Amino acid sequence: MLVYVLIIVLCWALWKTIVFLWRRQQQKQLFNDIPLVFDHHWFWGLAKKASNVHDAVEIQKRFVAEVRPKWYCSWLLLIEPALFPSSPDVFREVYSAIDVPKRHGWSGPYRMFAAWVGDGLLTSNGKKWERNRRLLTPAFHFDILKSYVVVYNKVVDIFMDRVGEACADGRSVDVYPYVSRATLDTMLRCGMSYMDDGIQNNKDQHPYVVAIHRLGTLLMERVLNPVHYLDFIYYHTAKGKEFRKLSTSRRSKDFLDILITARDDSGAGLTETEIMDEVSTFLFAGHDTTASAIGWSLYALGMYPDIQGKVREEFQYTTCFIKEVLRYYCPVPAQSRVLAHPLTVQGKTFRPGQIIDIGMNSLHHNPAVWGEDHNEFQPERFFSKNSLHRDPFAFLPFAAGQRNCIGQNFAMNEIKAFLSVVVRRFTISTDPDRPAVPYAEVTTRAKDGIYLHFQHRRKY
Ligand code: HEM
Repeated sequence: MLVYVLIIVLCWALWKTIVFLWRRQQQKQLFNDIPLVFDHHWFWGLAKKASNVHDAVEIQKRFVAEVRPKWYCSWLLLIEPALFPSSPDVFREVYSAIDVPKRHGWSGPYRMFAAWVGDGLLTSNGKKWERNRRLLTPAFHFDILKSYVVVYNKVVDIFMDRVGEACADGRSVDVYPYVSRATLDTMLRCGMSYMDDGIQNNKDQHPYVVAIHRLGTLLMERVLNPVHYLDFIYYHTAKGKEFRKLSTSRRSKDFLDILITARDDSGAGLTETEIMDEVSTFLFAGHDTTASAIGWSLYALGMYPDIQGKVREEFQYTTCFIKEVLRYYCPVPAQSRVLAHPLTVQGKTFRPGQIIDIGMNSLHHNPAVWGEDHNEFQPERFFSKNSLHRDPFAFLPFAAGQRNCIGQNFAMNEIKAFLSVVVRRFTISTDPDRPAVPYAEVTTRAKDGIYLHFQHRRKY
């Protein structure tokens, strides 16, 4: 009897191996003429040279700047090839397809992400995502966003008082923690009507902001370490235990009105878990991303005094300035998708299960799209006369298609309101001894902070 069982198991294993090798051979043929990214290890793929997302992003950026491919690939442990779009044509085909879900599965970053933010809008797929996106879209209606202007102004007033105090002795200040507290304050006020002027008073970093920062670092380290993909290994490591502790303490009993009152066609609302997941998702997605965008905007204002002058004077110019910040610094540097159905891209048909990894820096710094001067900071790129012939899929800071950013208008309004008030009150300049270095994680942070001087202008 045991012999029969053994034979059946062996046959099954053999069959699985044959199927695997056959599929792998097919994939190899499919990827034959798709360029392989620089520094690719035959077994570890990019993970050998890049132990963090920042290094991976830098390798991809360098590759695209030198080779200028429309797409490229890397392999994960010889098993899974990932396709990386880097030109507007390929992005159009991928983002225009219906139902290209977020990547969960054994190596999927969104499975690991969901252990932190829950199964909210950012990480969920299928019917659940569809329903919740429909229920939450009214929260971003023009009329609702309009009413937030008062909140943005209140938040930036507190921000300016705090930064003004910190710079009173003429020293430069790392503005990133101040900005993070301010964008968190905005989310709490707009999303949950939680009005607490003390959020920005914190001399040390706010514990929630500290936890988000650390969780982001741990998550991205895990994404690049295949040994930690398996939950039972990861959660036995010191970092896995820390991740679990931080991510379970994030749950708040506060909730958004719109989440509680939302009903689908059958009259059903969201469950308590769904509401908590969405609160967690929105707090993270709404504050960390805009903190990055505002932080790098302030830095660019300090770097380029002439641009600062124009932002002070012209509203239209400010919009172009913010777009250039979003292109140049890419606050959300990476996303990942997986095909649910076959998809034909550039004439090649990829099977369901195909990984599509998106490195926005590669697109936004592709010289074939943005020119040889892609590393120069030029808001004029976004003047209407200079954007006329630009492919709409060349600039995608908020992603595109079904899974685009639901909060993009909210974010643009908040950033505009913030900057226009700050430049009227202060002259901003950089600290020559402490240049800021972008560092890609879940969002693009600064490696050692963003040190700036804020000098009161005489008249504002
Ligand atoms: C400059 C600021 C922002 C940037 C650059 C940004 C960028 C993005 C990007 C690239 C995605 C796609 C992510 C992925 O596929 O993994 C996304 C999704 C999302 N964003 Fe934003 N975002 C910003 C601000 C906001 C704000 C203020 C909110 C909420 C108030 C928000 C809420 C969300 C949500 C809920 C999703 C998931 C949408 C879905 O899949 O249906 N974001 N964002």
